[in-house]
Amino acid sequence: MDLFEYQARDMFAAHDVPVLPGGVAETPEQAEAIAREIGGTVVVKAQVKTGGRGKAGGVKLAETVEDAKARAQDILGLDIKGHITHRVLVAQASDIAAEYYFSYLLDRSNRTFLAMASVEGGMEIEEIAVSKPEALARIPIDATVGVDAAKAAEIVDAANFPADVRDQVIAIAVQLWDVFAKEDATLVEVNPLAKDPSGKVLALDGKVTLDENAGFRHPEHEALEDAASADPLEAAAKAKGLNYVKLEGEVGIIGNGAGLVMSTLDVVAYAGEEFGGVRPANFLDIGGGASAQVMADGLGIILGDPAVKSVFVNVFGGITACDAVADGIVSALAMLGDDATKPLVVRLDGNNVDEGRRILAEAAHPLVTVVDTMDGAARRAAELASA
Ligand SMILES: Nc1ncnc2c1ncn2[C@@H]1O[C@H](COP(=O)(O)OP(=O)(O)O)[C@@H](O)[C@H]1O
Ligand SMILES: [Mg+2]
Repeated sequence: MDLFEYQARDMFAAHDVPVLPGGVAETPEQAEAIAREIGGTVVVKAQVKTGGRGKAGGVKLAETVEDAKARAQDILGLDIKGHITHRVLVAQASDIAAEYYFSYLLDRSNRTFLAMASVEGGMEIEEIAVSKPEALARIPIDATVGVDAAKAAEIVDAANFPADVRDQVIAIAVQLWDVFAKEDATLVEVNPLAKDPSGKVLALDGKVTLDENAGFRHPEHEALEDAASADPLEAAAKAKGLNYVKLEGEVGIIGNGAGLVMSTLDVVAYAGEEFGGVRPANFLDIGGGASAQVMADGLGIILGDPAVKSVFVNVFGGITACDAVADGIVSALAMLGDDATKPLVVRLDGNNVDEGRRILAEAAHPLVTVVDTMDGAARRAAELASA
């Protein structure tokens, strides 16, 4: 889960990373009130989960409270790379003597954590990496050891931070590691980490990605979720504990096991070419225990998507055998009643397949077609979706 800058800033402050006073506003009036409280010049910053806000006109200085209100008025509603701005951060403005870059991230390809730091801040890190790769220090971090003052000094010296800020940046590097480790983040990035004219170093921008797999350790992180901009079907699926991702197409997909579901998407996309480019409408993995309730929850979500024209249920019976899955489908359709309105193509294989197919044949639900092969079922589902 990516956080907004204002959430990252709060998290930094809670771990003693130096940040400037500020507050988040949803209206120009709120922005004005925050600016008045801060006093002096402020920056009004679009809160959208994408970088390059400055260049896109989403970060503006305001010298007076009236100015802050007007800038908030301009920025609220602004579309930045497809993200609509619903909130602004109003923060104290700082003069900037130098801009640096600092981040910790999970380096998947090297199976480790990585610190990246540069005294060439301000620009996007991708730009620094291309235009001045020698100016970007990359130091692997042993997860079992973490970042203490000595490790922080190694990073700071590798990036050639000047002597006048060295101690401050070392302290900040340790505090940012505290954020990264204690909050279970996979990314903590500060760009710019800025030096003001008095020599004080501050985090002026923050980007944090939290590891949702560690969510059970952080009940407080739930409040950081941006429920308003989540896809309503994805939110409903999440509430039911389903692994669902909305896609662009017309064929609803239900399968058990992420690998099977992914190959089902491929097979449906391929079959759909014959029917005018019909495509999968979603990814939905109902996991191992395909009970009637889980099947009904999954079907309920998929049938609630107006783009869906047909549904392909592709299940390989393993520990949960095909007869249990077939029972699940039959009772799910009974539970959904008149809400089930779209044709279902079911392909069952694996453990106890004959009994599973017998149950579906006996139920003879008018919406259900059983097809024995995955390719055949995908073709039939695509055909039904194009009708
Ligand atoms: N509090 C602030 N005071 C003064 N300048 C700021 C402040 N916050 C950001 N800036 C300037 O605006 C630029 C862009 O803001 P930033 O928060 O980094 O957004 P983004 O990275 O999305 O463009 C920064 O590089 C910095 O120069
Ligand atoms: Mg930035």
